[in-house]
Amino acid sequence: MHAVRAILGLIPLTFVMAEKRIIVAIDGPAGAGKSTLARRVAEKLGFVYVNTGSMYRAVALWALRTKIALSDMHKLEQLAQAAQIELSSGDDRVFLNGEDVTEAIRTPEVSAAASQVSMVPGVRRALLSVQRSIAKNNSVVMEGRDIGSVVFPQAQIKVFLDADPAERARRRALESSQSGAIGDMSSIAGELRVRDTRDQTRAEAPLVQAPDAHLIDSTRLSLEEVEEKVLSIVRARTSNGKAAAH
Ligand code: DC
Repeated sequence: MHAVRAILGLIPLTFVMAEKRIIVAIDGPAGAGKSTLARRVAEKLGFVYVNTGSMYRAVALWALRTKIALSDMHKLEQLAQAAQIELSSGDDRVFLNGEDVTEAIRTPEVSAAASQVSMVPGVRRALLSVQRSIAKNNSVVMEGRDIGSVVFPQAQIKVFLDADPAERARRRALESSQSGAIGDMSSIAGELRVRDTRDQTRAEAPLVQAPDAHLIDSTRLSLEEVEEKVLSIVRARTSNGKAAAH
């Protein structure tokens, strides 16, 4: 039994009581807008929001702090198994071993390290079992890279969210300037390119669009438009907005 666990915020009773859990899987490259979209969709549906990238980021932060080489697969696996990761669904805060690391996991250094630790099969195994266990008792909107392809191939709703690389870099730069960091477009675009290539070409659970996923290109769409597209897919796939139809 590994020690990773996810503690979630308030879980709406309707979905705890529902017989069949609904899984909305949202995958896509960095900066496509998955987190904002997934959080809003979860709020609208009363589902639990799970940001799986935060889990990889938390493991990466711990590795950086403890100076574990990102090439040491065995130690990284042990770290992922020992990590106490808590996600609070409502306000999207992330705790590592009891410490609030929400801001600490968002630095460019941690982004790059998260992409590297996520290549390690043992790390993925540890986090995958936590991700699956969350959906045992809750309907979820879970976002990441392999949710529709590996974590929940049986998810009722799968979305692959993409956007042009230049637009994704622009959004990331805007985000970092809003959080007070200096967002230089060309270095952000470079970081995204390196990370996407690594995430798409790794051997274990690479970023791919599941064959049955709906592709949404958000380059020229507002957040509201993307949200409405996802909600209409959810409505079409569910009956009474609750139990899975297909
Ligand atoms: O979503 P994000 O950018 O916060 O994710 C950080 C890194 O974690 C990303 O570069 C790849 C990895 N990741 C993954 O391999 N699988 C997931 N389901 C989520 C994230």
